Amino acid sequence: MAQPMVYGPREGLAQLHWNENYYGPSELAIKAIKESSHKGAYYPDLLVNRLKAMIAERHDLDTQNITISAGSTQALSYLAQVKSRENPIATTQLTWDSHLGYAQNIGGTVIRIDNGDNLEINLKAIESISAKNVSSVSIVNPNNPTGLLLDSNELRASIINMSKNALVIIDEAYNEITNKPDDNSMIDLVRDGYNVAVSRTFSKIYGLAGERIGYIIAQPDVIDAIKNNGSGEFSVSMGGLAGAIASYNDEAFLKFSKSMILEAKEMVYEGIASNGLTALPSETNFIFVNLGDIDANDFRDEMLKMNILIRGKYGDFNQWSRISMGKLEDIQRYIDAIPIALEQLRA
Ligand SMILES: Cc1ncc(COP(=O)(O)O)c(C=O)c1O
Repeated sequence: MAQPMVYGPREGLAQLHWNENYYGPSELAIKAIKESSHKGAYYPDLLVNRLKAMIAERHDLDTQNITISAGSTQALSYLAQVKSRENPIATTQLTWDSHLGYAQNIGGTVIRIDNGDNLEINLKAIESISAKNVSSVSIVNPNNPTGLLLDSNELRASIINMSKNALVIIDEAYNEITNKPDDNSMIDLVRDGYNVAVSRTFSKIYGLAGERIGYIIAQPDVIDAIKNNGSGEFSVSMGGLAGAIASYNDEAFLKFSKSMILEAKEMVYEGIASNGLTALPSETNFIFVNLGDIDANDFRDEMLKMNILIRGKYGDFNQWSRISMGKLEDIQRYIDAIPIALEQLRA
């Protein structure tokens, strides 16, 4: 018997572990993806150029400053591999770092700087290591899994210093969700000629994680290095590109999604407080919850028994649990499940 197609989480599961946006894709994106599927026999080179032109126009850049990839992970991974062949890569201890794992797999070294008090990124410590034979510095802002945002003036000043010695890679996967996306972005530093690479993705606020489109903005030599080392812009799909192009300027959809994320975050903050828990202030679509004496893996397992999927622990940060914002009904299920999970684990 033919198996049914499975396009998303199984029926009844509240999937809240990957920071996706379940209000997406936007209607415009869905229409474009459907339309493009009729021309799926053709390679999508013209759409790659079109998306790059749109990004270039918005940020007053040249298309040579941009490369498109299958999710930002792909371009970030190639870049990490290139840089790790030159010298170690410096990053923070608690961060999203899948791409750095690939650099380590080919023999690269990754230096991890401890987070400061309250789990924030220790910029001063990263700055001092950047002068010591590292090829690049990798920072996620706002950071994942903490959701914390760096002060944009401090970050900008620090990048200007660090970029004299190393390529500074800023992952802005969640930039659009912050309070002031333009102020918080470091793309202007690329425009001003600094040795900075900024990554962005259509997987988060745009709600196109399944379509796998992301990009990096950097100086042309960095872009060429990414393309020449494997990405080549040949691994992106026509459907993904069509969806990305159609939703790039869909302000109504982005505004709606952001308002839903904010509403969900308010619900979660209230829900955890009423259960005696605390959390970090998040500028993203996820919240890092301090479970106190409870182990985050045990908490995840209890939640899963109730068909709610959240993240387990990160490294040695045993009592920290990340919850992604989702549809409000799923968030309500998470909130209702907190006291039940806590009671089981404290019994
Ligand atoms: C900070 C950060 N960067 C990049 C990614 C990967 O995104 P993409 O789907 O664009 O590969 C994620 C995914 O969770 C992320 O949290």
